[in-house]
Amino acid sequence: MAQRYRVAAIPGDGIGKEVVPEGLRCLRAAADTYGFALDVEEFGFASADYWVRHGRMMPEDWRDVLGGFDAIFFGAVGWPEAVPDHVSLWGSLLRMRRDFDQYVNLRPVRLLRGVRSPLRDHRPGDIDFYVVRENTEGEYSSIGGRIFEGTERETVLQETVMTRVGVDRVLRYAFELADARPRRRLTWATKSNGISISMPYWDERAGEMALRYPRVRADKDHIDILAAKFVLRPEQYDVVVASNLFGDILSDLGPACTGTIGVAPSANINPDRRYPSLFEPVHGSAPDIAGLGVADPVGQIWSGAMMLEHLGESAAAAAVVAAIESVLEEHPEVRTPDLGGDATTVALGSAIARRITAGA
Ligand code: NAI
Ligand code: MG
Repeated sequence: MAQRYRVAAIPGDGIGKEVVPEGLRCLRAAADTYGFALDVEEFGFASADYWVRHGRMMPEDWRDVLGGFDAIFFGAVGWPEAVPDHVSLWGSLLRMRRDFDQYVNLRPVRLLRGVRSPLRDHRPGDIDFYVVRENTEGEYSSIGGRIFEGTERETVLQETVMTRVGVDRVLRYAFELADARPRRRLTWATKSNGISISMPYWDERAGEMALRYPRVRADKDHIDILAAKFVLRPEQYDVVVASNLFGDILSDLGPACTGTIGVAPSANINPDRRYPSLFEPVHGSAPDIAGLGVADPVGQIWSGAMMLEHLGESAAAAAVVAAIESVLEEHPEVRTPDLGGDATTVALGSAIARRITAGA
């Protein structure tokens, strides 16, 4: 019997509705070629359309609706013309990340064949690392407040929250990842020279975790020099683990060093597998190009490859990434405008799907 996976597809807004179908096209090609089945169910919530009709971003029972799926394949949410961004994001994507305890945000940073880096003198293969971002606590807490508003004593506080459970589990994930990679290097981002309570704690837990992974060469970089080195010497990184805020910044900076945001994928993972994990491109709904049919589908398709890896279909996942690279390198005629071409979303997505079927 072929393995079956249940996948919830949520296109969301804007170009999400254009790139998710291309992602699904490639996933189906991979399923047919590698002999597993995908039961895909599509949902219209987590979108401005849904909000306009229902006055909320998701149905009340969304946890029950999505909880039974093996994975969520997500496009992008946000349509500022109709719904303020903090409402749409906090009402959908951010709730899924928290309520489904997707405590790892994983973003590969890789210079693909056929994509030009904005950094000079870097070739495909030179840049190849992962950013592991803590996704549930840290600097993004809602603990704090304002007092004496509007007076001279106006005071604003927002606390960073680091729990031993929360810190250790994301560090463990990163060390496991590094241990399984050929270079076995790990860098943790810190700022313990300036942030003198929480960051020394983060360092302490990282140092402790390092003792359990003697094969991994681990060191730390302060966030300021780390950001500089992402640009100056990206080739030296293998796995970079960071708190929520630092990870957020690094995981945009990293992909930016490898070309267009249109190709960058991400995974929001619940490693305990109690809840479905969520796979989505790094980019948003791109209202400026939505509806034109020219969005780059590669970030969505590569996110699909990360989903296959998570589901245990490693060969299929590798084939999808290989197909992306081969097509981008060998077929400039199907590159979308962000990659310097003039092809459509459907043309690029279809070419990658055909390549998956044909074998790389
Ligand atoms: P964005 O990522 O949507 O767009 C930034 C720029 O990159 C735009 O010029 C856009 O045309 C371009 N771009 C993005 N994806 C592309 C693709 N696949 N192919 C070619 N070009 C691409 O970010 P922006 O404009 O800041 O946000 C737009 C909306 O998306 C907002 O409502 C925002 O809140 C939301 N958003 C949602 C995210 C998510 O669902 N995870 C992430 C980031 C933003
Ligand atoms: Mg960000």
